Amino acid sequence: MGKVTVITSGKGGTGKSTVTAGLGAALVRRGSRVLIIDCDAGMRGIDLMLGVSGELVFDIADIVSGNCPPAGAIYPCKTVPELFVLPAPSDVRDEVSPYIMKQLVTVLKRYYDHILIDCPAGIGMGTQSAAAPADRAVLVANTEPLTLRGCDKVRQMLCDIGVSECRLIINRFVERSFRKLAAFEDLDAVIDKAGARLLGIIPEDGAAVGLAQKGLPIEGKHKAVYALDRIAARLDGVDVPLDL
Ligand SMILES: Nc1ncnc2c1ncn2[C@@H]1O[C@H](COP(=O)(O)OP(=O)(O)OP(=O)(O)O)[C@@H](O)[C@H]1O
Ligand SMILES: [Mg+2]
Repeated sequence: MGKVTVITSGKGGTGKSTVTAGLGAALVRRGSRVLIIDCDAGMRGIDLMLGVSGELVFDIADIVSGNCPPAGAIYPCKTVPELFVLPAPSDVRDEVSPYIMKQLVTVLKRYYDHILIDCPAGIGMGTQSAAAPADRAVLVANTEPLTLRGCDKVRQMLCDIGVSECRLIINRFVERSFRKLAAFEDLDAVIDKAGARLLGIIPEDGAAVGLAQKGLPIEGKHKAVYALDRIAARLDGVDVPLDL
């Protein structure tokens, strides 16, 4: 039975989709079969990042309305064997309810080792649907106070719906900018503010995430890939020391 992880943040633009796509590929490198479900109805992006947008015919809403069986809306990523994408609807009005998401993921998780669910920004119904079937959550934040407040809000919402395991990824980290901004004394203060245990830190890495912008897998000799591989191992329960 696959482990279901929702990738969320509260605040928009923190790197949820990029981290989801990168973690998907990193988990495949560890030998897993991985499904990424895009829950950002109306603003989907995972299909573009994983190079399957040209083939899309059906999406998650088509499964729900009976237009196709679940397998009909799941697309294999050609460049990463064992990585699959279930796209969000292109129209926000076709957003799937939390109840339906839970039922659908219960069926799908038999076929994968990991299911990663990408969230929209905010804590509205899209995020609640994405979180409903999750065993655990990963909060993607940077070190700005406003983003960390968003994490706190989303964590409360997750707690309310019964997702109590919550870990933090600090994304786009640049040591020099963090020191210069001086909003927090150190990273411990950032982690305290987010209210979740640290899962890993991904550095700012335009070269690595530029791959996703071109529909290519985030892989190769990049510092963000190194960080993603370590985070993927921790998600699998391997005790990899944090590089703080
Ligand atoms: N580690 C990184 N280094 C450099 N750029 C990054 C990194 N992570 C994400 N980005 C960039 O940040 C921007 C936002 O990323 P992304 O779309 O993944 O965020 P998001 O949280 O999914 O946004 P939304 O809330 O709109 O869904 C993109 O331009 C992406 O390339
Ligand atoms: Mg996104």
